[in-house]
Amino acid sequence: MNFAVFASGNGSNLQAIIDAIKKKTIKANLKLVVSDHPKAYALVRAKRAKIATLIVEPKDYPDRVSFDREIIDQLKKKHVDFIVLAGFMRILSPIFIKAFKGKILNVHPALLPAFKGAHAIKDAFDCGVKVTGVTVHFVDEQVDHGAIICQQAVAIDKKDTPKILEKKIHHVEHIVYPKAIDLFARGKLKVIGRLVRIL
Ligand code: GRF
Repeated sequence: MNFAVFASGNGSNLQAIIDAIKKKTIKANLKLVVSDHPKAYALVRAKRAKIATLIVEPKDYPDRVSFDREIIDQLKKKHVDFIVLAGFMRILSPIFIKAFKGKILNVHPALLPAFKGAHAIKDAFDCGVKVTGVTVHFVDEQVDHGAIICQQAVAIDKKDTPKILEKKIHHVEHIVYPKAIDLFARGKLKVIGRLVRIL
């Protein structure tokens, strides 16, 4: 199976994925790293690992549809079978979701359906919950909503600060996301409505 990673920023999850491929704990081919930010550090990580990159900036396209179509065309050219979102800070349009239905994965830094949105770690911390965590899920038309593949809890301790919590969350993401990607790539996930069974 061939896949692409979409990342807008630092790319620490991308790095965990690249490392897992090297260790053969992800048995799939990372064909392309897509970013909407030319300065994203994720692109440096991709180049270092000799993975092809694609930069797509919305400002270069007349509208949303042509932006999405360009990415879809590039993905088809590279024979990409599925997509892994790793800190991609853009909501995919319905055209995109339709083109890769059931084949887009995302990692979210909270236990969905709690703390949806772009500031999940801080929101959980500020809310005072004692447990938050990480969710890997399929992407559907709604934000942070698709069927949940796996979750892992992270305790918020008395001494934690938002920064410490962020570190703890990222550490867990780097373990669970590569595992989920490998399960999907090997056809080990069966989706029945909102339920995902690991075969
Ligand atoms: C991660 O916390 C992920 O859960 C969220 O965006 C962040 C990306 O971090 N969707 P990085 O760019 O992989 O370091």
